[in-house]
Amino acid sequence: MIEVQNVSKFFGNYPAVEDVSFKVEKGEILGLLGPNGAGKTTIMRIITGYTPPTSGTVKVAGHDILHDSMAARAAIGYLPETVPLYTDMTVREYLLFQAAIRGVPNNKKGQRLEDVVETVRLNDYVDTHIGKLSKGFRQRVGIAQAIIHEPSVLVLDEPTIGIDPIQVVETRSLIKSLGGGDRAVILSTHILPEVSMVCGRVVIINEGRVIAEDTPANLALRLQNSRQVSADIRGPTKLVTAAIEKIPGVTSIHRESFEGHSQYIVECGVGNDCREELAKVVVANGWGLLSMQAKGMTLEEVFLELTTQEEA
Ligand SMILES: Nc1ncnc2c1ncn2[C@@H]1O[C@H](COP(=O)(O)OP(=O)(O)OP(=O)(O)O)[C@@H](O)[C@H]1O
Ligand SMILES: [Mg+2]
Repeated sequence: MIEVQNVSKFFGNYPAVEDVSFKVEKGEILGLLGPNGAGKTTIMRIITGYTPPTSGTVKVAGHDILHDSMAARAAIGYLPETVPLYTDMTVREYLLFQAAIRGVPNNKKGQRLEDVVETVRLNDYVDTHIGKLSKGFRQRVGIAQAIIHEPSVLVLDEPTIGIDPIQVVETRSLIKSLGGGDRAVILSTHILPEVSMVCGRVVIINEGRVIAEDTPANLALRLQNSRQVSADIRGPTKLVTAAIEKIPGVTSIHRESFEGHSQYIVECGVGNDCREELAKVVVANGWGLLSMQAKGMTLEEVFLELTTQEEA
C-alpha cells in the first residue's frame, strides 16, 4: 500500500533523508522509529505529497505520489506533526468541513461524522469549540480528520506526543484498532515501548538512513545472542577467568562469588555468540557448568546499540 523506494531529500547540501526504502502492506502497522532530527517527519511529508523527494519514488495505493498525486493523496489520511486545527470551530463544524474538503458526499457526511466521533470517542465534545479542548482531545480531533474519508492509508506523525499517560494508552489502542483490515498504517515515534505495543514491524532510522527493519521482537532477538552471557561455573576462579578470557570475541568478564561456585557475566562482541565455546572450555577443564543464559536486550538497548554503532 505504501512503497518508498530509494528516497532521498536534501535541504541545500544537507541530506535529511538518504536512500530510504521500505513497504507497508495492507493490514500492517509500521513504526518509523528514530531520534529527533532523524528524518521521520520529512519521510512522512514525502509520502503524503507535501514535499517532493530530491530523488526516489513513492507509491501510495498503487499511485505515484508525484505523477498521480490526486489519486495517491485521496487514499491518504494524515495526522501531521502539528495539526492545523481551527480553534474557533466546534468539533462538528471542523470535521464536517474536513469531510467536504476530502470529498465525502453530502449525504454521507453526517454518518461519517457520527462514526469517527464514536471511533475516537469524542461523543461528549462534538459541540465544543476546539480551542477549549485539552491537548489530548485535540489530538483525537486530528486523528478524526485523518480518517473521516475512510482512507486506505493512514500516516500518523508522533500521534501520542504530549498526551498524558492515561490518554496515551487509549490513543495507542485506538491506533491499533485503526490498523488491520484493509488499511495500512505508518506512524512515527521516538518512544520505544510504543513501537512494541502498537506496531507489527519497525523501521529504525538514524541521520536520515534506515539502520534496521524487523519486527520489534526480532530486533531485540537479533542482538541478544551476541551480548551478555551469564554462567554459573564451579571451578578455580582464576583459572576459569583466564580460560574465558581466551575465548574469541569475549570483551569483558564480571565475576560474583557464591558458596561453591561463581557467576560470570561474559560480554561478547556484537555478532558473537560465545555460549558454545564457553561450554566447551568449562567441560574440557572438568569444571562444573551449573547454568548458562543469554541475557536478552530490550528494544531500547537494541536501538542504542544500532544508533551508536552507526555513529562509530
Ligand atoms: N524545511 C526544512 N529546511 C531545512 N532543513 C530541514 C527542513 N525540514 C527538516 N529539516 C532538517 O532535516 C532533518 C530531519 O528533520 P525531521 O523533521 O524529518 O526529523 P524528525 O525525525 O521528524 O525529528 P523529530 O523527532 O524532532 O520530529 C533535521 O536535521 C531538520 O533540521
Ligand atoms: Mg518529526
